[in-house]
Amino acid sequence: MTYQVILPAAGQGKRMGAGRNKLLLELNGVPVLIHTLKVFDEDEGCSGIILAIHPHDEKEFKALLKKYHIKKVMNLVRGGEERQHSIYNALKTVNTNDIILVHDAARPFIRKEQIHRLAETAEETGAAIIGVPAKDTMKKVQDGVIVETVERSSLWAVQTPQAFRISLLRKAYEKAEADHFLGTDDASLVERLNMPVAIVEGDYDNIKLTTPEDLYFAEAILKKREKEFC
Ligand code: CTP
Ligand code: MG
Repeated sequence: MTYQVILPAAGQGKRMGAGRNKLLLELNGVPVLIHTLKVFDEDEGCSGIILAIHPHDEKEFKALLKKYHIKKVMNLVRGGEERQHSIYNALKTVNTNDIILVHDAARPFIRKEQIHRLAETAEETGAAIIGVPAKDTMKKVQDGVIVETVERSSLWAVQTPQAFRISLLRKAYEKAEADHFLGTDDASLVERLNMPVAIVEGDYDNIKLTTPEDLYFAEAILKKREKEFC
């Protein structure tokens, strides 16, 4: 089983407040972008990486790819206004019948075993995403007042990667564009085609680095993993 992966990396990291793309922040002396890229670069199942970047990061990102000997980046494409636009720009350059994964460059802790389980599921079903069961009690709130306690057992917090047959993902993006629909993940575009999307149970470690406190969690995850490998 082989797959290609689109890594959207063209955000501005506003909520991180670092004054630059959060993917350039370092964990253990290595930029977040490189942590994520290495997972795929070193995975034998990955046959190519398409990276969506903002033009003002181009020089620095290219220098990092060289410095860290990242080999599988086939295309560097221009990001768009929103994450969905960045991914669509990347998708238009994909030329393969392999399963296609979309993975946020801001999630550096994804593990190879999970990528494989996900890609295999998508090969069987057409579409599959990684997620974890919700841990907190969830309430629906309107105007500062609770209107409903949502049954937790049916709620999952979804992550990336999300994996699809390429023809299905193309169709989903074409429809979203035609309808001016903007989703917060890729599965939501496929759901609009009334196609089933399978969920593969992932790992609570697969966090997205979004706000400054996520960097503390990231340090803790790295420490835990160093111990695992000792
Ligand atoms: N992303 C992208 N193109 C955009 C916006 C986001 O490729 N126009 C990427 C980000 O680089 C990130 C992933 O999509 O890897 C998830 O987005 P998010 O966590 O929201 O990152 P940012 O958009 O950079 O952060 P913020 O929303 O706080 O500005
Ligand atoms: Mg964003």
